[in-house]
Amino acid sequence: MRFENKVAIVTGGGRGIGEATAKRFAADGAAVSVWDVNAEAAEAVAGAIRESGGKAIACIVDVSQKDQVDAGVARTIEELGGLHLVVNNAGITRDKSAKKLSEDAWDLVLAVNLKGTFLVCQAAMNVMLEQGYGRIVNTASVAVDGNFGQANYAASKAGVVGLTRTLALELAKPGITVNAVAPGATDTPMFDAVPDEIKAAICKSIPLRRMAEPAEVAAVHAFLCSDDASYITGQLLYVDGGATLGC
Ligand SMILES: NC(=O)c1ccc[n+]([C@@H]2O[C@H](COP(=O)([O-])OP(=O)(O)OC[C@H]3O[C@@H](n4cnc5c(N)ncnc54)[C@H](O)[C@@H]3O)[C@@H](O)[C@H]2O)c1
Repeated sequence: MRFENKVAIVTGGGRGIGEATAKRFAADGAAVSVWDVNAEAAEAVAGAIRESGGKAIACIVDVSQKDQVDAGVARTIEELGGLHLVVNNAGITRDKSAKKLSEDAWDLVLAVNLKGTFLVCQAAMNVMLEQGYGRIVNTASVAVDGNFGQANYAASKAGVVGLTRTLALELAKPGITVNAVAPGATDTPMFDAVPDEIKAAICKSIPLRRMAEPAEVAAVHAFLCSDDASYITGQLLYVDGGATLGC
């Protein structure tokens, strides 16, 4: 199996794209540390993986808190025996037009999406540097190109791209690849509050005429963490059904 003897951390693994990624990595043979702020969700995903014969633990970690991140990495290594793959998937939105955007909403989104990604990368790279091997995939968004009402979110995701490219440069020689994915509209609970007519309009604007399934983004995470992607680093891969083409 693709990830036999590999240990993976998936942040925000309790639902949506993170849940699909945790389950995909487990199906590919990885032992998975499912990180989430939502304890129940993380336990449910880890439990489902164990029930289908895989190996997984749930870690209650807020990625914006360095002490929790460091403890989560230490626990993962202690209980699963190592750390090879990291998918920084945890992310939040607090949408408002820039004129109405509060300082708190700015700080929170930047703390989770950008600082959280950095903290997890930094904690993971310590062990990856020692072993001379690692795969890191960070999560950007099509919003890196700008999106109405998402100044905080777009800035955080554009920051993730700059962080990814810098880490790719710094970590290439020791054998660690660092890439990012930019999902387009993906059918996860993040979209639950969006009215059906808006969803239909979004689908109409996408060349493939539908939203992505979480498993389709998870498949790209798996590719970028696999040996098939051994010569790819510092890249941003759009998984958007062609939505950004011609923009
Ligand atoms: N769904 C989309 O259309 C879409 C599009 C582009 C990018 N993305 C990005 O993909 C990623 C996953 O999106 P999703 O739609 O699956 O989201 P989601 O809201 O369905 O799930 C996110 C998960 O992250 C967890 N989480 C939130 N804050 C956290 C924190 N501080 N620490 C740890 N875990 C935390 C949540 O509890 C939840 O389980 C996010 O980074 C998001 O920005 C999503």
